Amino acid sequence: MIPVILILDQDVKITEALSPLFADEDIRLRRAESLKQALEVLHREMVVTIVLGDVIPPPDIPSALMRLKSVAPYAVKILLVHSNDLTRSVPALNSGEIFRLIVRPWEPETLRQTMKDALYRHEVVLALKEADEATLRSLGQAIELKDPYTKGHCDRVAGFALLIGKALHLTPDQLMHIRHGSWLHDCGKIGVPENILNFKGELDHPDFEVLKMHPTWGAEVARQANLQAGVINTILHHHERYDGLGYPSGLKGDDIPLEARIVTVADVYDAITTRRPYREQVYSLNEAMDIIASMAGTFLDPDLVR
Ligand SMILES: [Fe+2]
Repeated sequence: MIPVILILDQDVKITEALSPLFADEDIRLRRAESLKQALEVLHREMVVTIVLGDVIPPPDIPSALMRLKSVAPYAVKILLVHSNDLTRSVPALNSGEIFRLIVRPWEPETLRQTMKDALYRHEVVLALKEADEATLRSLGQAIELKDPYTKGHCDRVAGFALLIGKALHLTPDQLMHIRHGSWLHDCGKIGVPENILNFKGELDHPDFEVLKMHPTWGAEVARQANLQAGVINTILHHHERYDGLGYPSGLKGDDIPLEARIVTVADVYDAITTRRPYREQVYSLNEAMDIIASMAGTFLDPDLVR
């Protein structure tokens, strides 16, 4: 079956803008002018991405999203909004079903990148569903392509985290959660635009808020793919801090799952021993150990650091 991008918009402009982007690819565009028409297309064809335009009135967006999800659970949804149109975007974003916004009038390059990311996310969810170990690892590596500074990061994090896990005599299941969680911990970065991911220097507040969404988005992908709770929670909580000042949930101490606390230590260790866009300096093993020790009790679990 040929994959379909379904556009719910009265206006043909967005369809016309998307056509040339997919002219050379095996992807069909379909436009629907009502929810009923959209559901018919979903029943008939393999829809991979839904672009939600002005067809659905704002109060009906959450229920429409649920109906679309019930027929096409893995289709990635993008919301098309006017820049000042909070009445549409807030309920849709709060539903947790929207992958990305496209703001009218769109920049062609932003539109292209957003659609590319959406198609990639759809592939990731499908691949995770049938995942064997090789697939999970290669998905982790795929995100490194988007962020060249992190080349080899997933493998190194898995290596360090498993060393800690084995030293603590964790069960085979816990070690598996650590391995898979390490490979996939940053997979939510598919949702983060490249200009934010590769920004040199300190991000401003709104951009940092977008970057901070990556654990939530990654966990959502893993949840959609029915991965085990231990893996989902490792992805979701790998940026929590031991003192409760981390994100996304602000969990504190032992409330943070052990597997996530271990992956956090490994993630920090790798970050300070490799070059990053925001920092030229690379620390030696001894310097890194001192930095890790100084983070015990604030960022990191002091028992693990010991
Ligand atoms: Fe991360």
